[in-house]
Amino acid sequence: MKRILVINGPNLDILGQREPELYGRETLGDINGNLEALAGRLGLGLEFFQSNHEGTLVEAIHRAGREFDGAILNAAAYTHTSLAIRDAVLAIPRPVIEVHLTNPAARDGFRKTSYLSGAAVGVVAGFGPRSYELALLWFSEPGRVAKA
Ligand code: DQA
Repeated sequence: MKRILVINGPNLDILGQREPELYGRETLGDINGNLEALAGRLGLGLEFFQSNHEGTLVEAIHRAGREFDGAILNAAAYTHTSLAIRDAVLAIPRPVIEVHLTNPAARDGFRKTSYLSGAAVGVVAGFGPRSYELALLWFSEPGRVAKA
C-alpha cells in the first residue's frame, strides 16, 4: 500500500477558530478524518503530522523521504519565507504536493511568493479542505512515487 505523509505547518492546529471566514469552521481533526476516509476508499495509507516549528517541519519532510511514498504539505506562512523547507522538499527523492486551503495568489502581495512551488511536483490551492483531497487523488494514480 502506498503511504503518504500529510504535513501541516504553523497555525493550522487551530483551524476552526482561526479566521473562520477565511479558513472555515472545520478543525484539522475534521479535515484529517475526512482525508483518512478518502484514503481508505482509494487504498492509500496516511499519517498526519503538524508543527508550528520550521526545523521540525524540515525533519518531517526528511522522514517523508525515508519512510513514505510522498507528502502533502501545507507549510502555511513558511511557504512564503522558508528556504530551509524548500531545500528539504528538493532533497528528498519523493514527490511533495504543496496545498493551501485558500488561494494565496489572490490574497496579500507577500503571499504571492511561494518558495515551495518550484520544488513541489504540483500545487493545489483555494479549494478549502478539498485541496488536500485533490492532492490525494493524484497520489492514488498508478506510479506517482518517484519524482517526475
Ligand atoms: C495557507 C495560506 C498561507 O498564506 C497562510 O499563511 C496560512 C494558510 C492556506 O492553507 O491557505 O497559514 O497555507
